[in-house]
Amino acid sequence: MMTSRRFSSVTVLAAVAMLSMGPAFAKGPAPDPAVKDFQRVVDAAYAKYKDLKDGKNADYIPILTETPSDLFGVVIVTKDGKVYSAGDVDYKFSIQSVSKPFTAALVMSQQSPEVLREKIGVEPTGMAFNSKLALAIYENSVNPLVNAGAIAAVSLVQATSEQDRWNKVQQNLSDFAGGPLTVLEKVYDSEYSTAFGNRGIANLLYNWGRLYSDPEEALRVYTRQCSVGVSARDLGMMGATLANGGVNPLTRKQVMPAKHVPELLAVMATAGFYDESGDWMYTAGLPAKTGVGGGIVAVVPGRFAIAAFSPRLNEAGNSVRSLNAIRDIAGELGVGVFGPNPN
Ligand code: DON
Repeated sequence: MMTSRRFSSVTVLAAVAMLSMGPAFAKGPAPDPAVKDFQRVVDAAYAKYKDLKDGKNADYIPILTETPSDLFGVVIVTKDGKVYSAGDVDYKFSIQSVSKPFTAALVMSQQSPEVLREKIGVEPTGMAFNSKLALAIYENSVNPLVNAGAIAAVSLVQATSEQDRWNKVQQNLSDFAGGPLTVLEKVYDSEYSTAFGNRGIANLLYNWGRLYSDPEEALRVYTRQCSVGVSARDLGMMGATLANGGVNPLTRKQVMPAKHVPELLAVMATAGFYDESGDWMYTAGLPAKTGVGGGIVAVVPGRFAIAAFSPRLNEAGNSVRSLNAIRDIAGELGVGVFGPNPN
């Protein structure tokens, strides 16, 4: 009896001591210093750009013209999975090129960053995402974020069959999102039936020994990858996984090795916006990736992700409202990777 009473008073003393250490001890790690502003900056960016009508939906994939152009969502997801959002953050649109860094991550995880560097390359092309000229000039080194490098990345995924290749790609995207992602079949049909340019790219790469599976298989799996449905919230969660050292904030799964996250973010910083990558880094200062579905995700390393979705694109194929919203938020919070962003 004596012993147990003494234990209980020790327990009470310990609890009092813990509480006196303040909220950091009681509630886990200290929140991000910018957290008090997250909802305010998300709301402000949404309000500022919701009536901006510049740009137009992608039309070279015919079905993308049918996405309602006025949809707009903005979200911050922290590395511990907290979500701050405004607008249409649950609407499912096709991920398109935002998928590319995540499949590059799969190649890094299955093999190594060296394989990605040697077999695809990590040089920004300074040209459009589907440029054949870039391919002709930089035959032996593009990067995994332009179409050529992304199709090559799919071909590098270690798999026993086309179905297995697809399963691995899909599982990896789902792991980054922290929940199952599925293909928007109508987008796939629309894109695959008009994929003459990408088929040309796949065949050229194969001819040069820079594609590592059957070209039509790589094209099909790549096109399915681009047709995966995501919401802005999903993109935020995928970016938050990168911000969190490769660990998904919801499932706690280590999706890619933490030590390779900086290499992936470096490619996103230099090539994530294609021929606008320099302008983007100059004005927003964050590694990011865009897609012609209208999605963009940007990563504040070690802290959080900012994602947005709106279908109207500029000439480079980047969502006008999304890029403006993310750039404003990055500027307001002063989170550019080289220091607080310019105004
Ligand atoms: O291969 C394509 O052209 C599309 N599936 C993806 C292009 C894309 O998203 C470019 N991003 N801004």
